Amino acid sequence: MTKLMIIGAGQMGSGIVQVAAQSGFSVIMQDVKDEFTERGMKTIRTSLERFVKKSTLTQEDVEATLGRIRITTDLAMAAEADVVIEAAIEKMDVKKEIFRKLDQIAPQDALLASNTSSLPITELAAVTRRPEQVMGMHFMNPVPMMKLVEMIRGLQTSDATYQAIETLAKDMGKTPIAVRDFPGFISNRILMPMINEAIYCLYEGVAEPAAIDEIMKLGMSHPMGPLQLADFIGLDTCLYIMEVLYEGFADSKYRPCPLLRKYVEAGYLGKKSGRGFYQYA
Ligand code: CAA
Repeated sequence: MTKLMIIGAGQMGSGIVQVAAQSGFSVIMQDVKDEFTERGMKTIRTSLERFVKKSTLTQEDVEATLGRIRITTDLAMAAEADVVIEAAIEKMDVKKEIFRKLDQIAPQDALLASNTSSLPITELAAVTRRPEQVMGMHFMNPVPMMKLVEMIRGLQTSDATYQAIETLAKDMGKTPIAVRDFPGFISNRILMPMINEAIYCLYEGVAEPAAIDEIMKLGMSHPMGPLQLADFIGLDTCLYIMEVLYEGFADSKYRPCPLLRKYVEAGYLGKKSGRGFYQYA
C-alpha cells in the first residue's frame, strides 16, 4: 500500500501530504484550484525548511520529499490511489459529494478515509458502495508536529480496513488511537467545550483574553491558551464543531457561546483572517 491521494490542500490536507511524503509514500495532493495546490506546496516547503533549520532534515531530504508529491485539480487521479484521505472543508454535503465521486473513481479495493473533525463516519460511508472500506482518520493541527491520529470506525468499517489504516498511521510516524463514531469523537468532544467555556468567560467579563490564556498555560501547562488555540484552529471551525455537538447530542450543555457566533458573523475567524480574539499581522 504505497500510493496515497489527499483531497484538500489546506492546512490539514497539506500537513497530511507532508508527513506522508516525508515517510516515503508517493502522494497526490488534489484541490479544486491550482492556486490552492500551489499554496499547499508552499506551506509544505516552509514547514520542511523549519526542520532543516533545526538540522533534523537535510536539504536533500526536502527535495526528495517534495519529489514524492504530485499536485492536481483532477479528482480522476484517485484511480491510481490505494488509499484516499479526504481533508476538504467541514461541510457534510461537500464531503458526501466527494465520497460519492471517489467511490466511482477509486479502485475497488481502495480504502477511503476522512479527516473530519466531528462529522459522522457512518453517514459518510453510507453514500458509497463500500462502507466497510471507509473510516475516519483525524489528524491534529499542525500535522507535522502532533503525534495523534484519532481512528474512527464507522458502524460498518471492517477489521481489515481498520488494521490497514492503523498500519498506515504508524508508517506515517503517528500514534493511532481508536474511538467510536459519536459526535466530536473524543478530541473535539472534550477540547471544544473547553474553548467554548473560555469564550463564555470572556463574554461574561470574568477576565481579558490574555489572562484567560495565561491561566491555562501557567496553571494547566497547556502549550497554548484556549483563545489562542481557537484562533489557531479557526473560529468558524470551532463554531461548526460546537453546533455538531449541540445537534448531535441534543444537549444544551454544548450550546455555542453567542460571542463566538458574533465573531464568526463579523468575519473574525482567527489567525487565517488576521483577527480573532487577537490581531495578527
Ligand atoms: N512545521 C514544522 N515545525 C513546526 C510547525 C510546522 N507546521 N509548527 C511548529 N513547528 C515547530 C517549530 O519549528 C518549533 O520547533 P523547536 O521547538 O524544535 O524549535 C516547535 O514546533 C515549537 O514551535 P514554536 O516555538 O513556533 O511555537 P510553540 O512552542 O507554541 O509550538 C505548537 C507550536 C507545536 C503548535 C504548540 O503551540 C502546540 O502544541 N499547540 C497546541 C496545538 C494543538 O492543541 N493542536 C490541536 C488542535 S485541535 C485539532 O487539530 C483538532 C481539530 O479537529 C480542531
